[in-house]
Amino acid sequence: MADNFNKTNKKFFSSRAPLVEAMENYKKSPMIGFHIPGHTRGLGINPRFVNLVGQDVLKIDTTDEFDNLGTLHPSSGAIKEAQEIAAKTYNAKKTFFVTSGSTIANLALAFGLTNPNDEVLIARNCHRSVLTGLIISGAKVNWVIPKKLNNWSIFGNIEVEDIEEKLRYNRNIKLLWLTNPTYEGVVSDIEKISEVCKKYKVNLIVDEAHGSLWNYNDNLPKSALFYGADAVIHSIHKTAGAMTQASMLHLGKNSNFDEIKVAHALKLLHTTSPSLLLLASLDAARANLSSESGQKMLQNAIDNALYFRKEAKNIENLSVLEKGVNIDITKIFIKMKHLGGVQLEYILEHEFNIEVESASDEGVLILSNLGNTKDEFDYLINSLKKISDMKFDKIEKKVKIMPLVDPEIVMNLREAYFAPKESVNKVDAIGRISSEVIALCPPGISILLPGEIIKKEHIPYLFNYEKIEVIKE
Ligand SMILES: Cc1ncc(COP(=O)(O)O)c(C=O)c1O
Repeated sequence: MADNFNKTNKKFFSSRAPLVEAMENYKKSPMIGFHIPGHTRGLGINPRFVNLVGQDVLKIDTTDEFDNLGTLHPSSGAIKEAQEIAAKTYNAKKTFFVTSGSTIANLALAFGLTNPNDEVLIARNCHRSVLTGLIISGAKVNWVIPKKLNNWSIFGNIEVEDIEEKLRYNRNIKLLWLTNPTYEGVVSDIEKISEVCKKYKVNLIVDEAHGSLWNYNDNLPKSALFYGADAVIHSIHKTAGAMTQASMLHLGKNSNFDEIKVAHALKLLHTTSPSLLLLASLDAARANLSSESGQKMLQNAIDNALYFRKEAKNIENLSVLEKGVNIDITKIFIKMKHLGGVQLEYILEHEFNIEVESASDEGVLILSNLGNTKDEFDYLINSLKKISDMKFDKIEKKVKIMPLVDPEIVMNLREAYFAPKESVNKVDAIGRISSEVIALCPPGISILLPGEIIKKEHIPYLFNYEKIEVIKE
């Protein structure tokens, strides 16, 4: 499978990796270097660290300053070519590689595309980076609240009707920004939401940070890039096999967004020393998933997830989130009847040496990843069977993750963030207006955001805060 259309799904899949190739050549033909990085291919570095990571990695730890590798801003050479293949693969008009995570992609979209007082509609479960971007830009935020899955202590999908109602009611809204899927894999109907956006002439950004694998297997949901979204973000590093911090920002085929504005915003916000290791890992991840072996890896992850879901039905006291929601099957959210989520996470880690992705107040999130084996799932299943039979005292929940409180937001983000503020004791903050973003990562969804009234219900979720920044009265 080199450069071709995948016959089964009619997508452009190429296992060529021009940037990986350029890095291979760079490694093979070293020059005498008098340049940054000063560790000089790993020779001028702590030997203990060399032992830890390996000399090979350090030989190619470089940035985009060399002709044969290309540059990121503006894109040229092998980097440009790698971005172009990615754009074709993801059905995008343009793909930007990002080395500071989807955080920077979100910041760049907000900063580059919204002006002070532009009205935007944002889902309340957005990642904190969307809020940061809008604090920088000063856009006026309207909120849509996703469905609450109270039994699971997480947000669910966003209803098409709720979007339509907001857009019908406020014709000044020019941009809708959603997270899809949610961190736990709940999927919204982006096809219909996109139709509603077109009807009201509203641009659509989908933060698909957790949907980076969707393009590569028809058993997974379809990316918003096939439903006419103007921009889509993928944290390729989260699930698609790139190195930590490596993400992609795509502009849709018929995007209304100005490519130059997005490029400028990225250039302003991005590091001026992008790691070639991270950039090449994006090229490698895309090429891998397009290749026969990568396709097998993904099918394996899907098969393992389906296997777990089937076996889980036989485990007493265990529930898996799947009824009544549309879900990305590789994200498996489970809960045990007699345990809280944080407690289950703790037991799995300390008694069974299993590390899950995260916990909510009610359950834990397990990811069926490209590299997981069926044996690992068998071990997980057996461990859960044992936990189900054990008697634990229900522990008083000391750590609470995500309040599903109806937010009362009374000020614009930027206005609240820059207003005169004071620090008050947590309990004295009730009834005051928050001037900071408080979010636990993961999932990075704000517990409180600037301009939001602090309520009694928030307090248990602020367990690691003594004082809160509030607007001065
Ligand atoms: C929905 C969503 N968007 C964006 C981000 C930021 O991604 P990154 O960690 O790649 O900066 C996250 C991180 O968890 C996220 O969950």
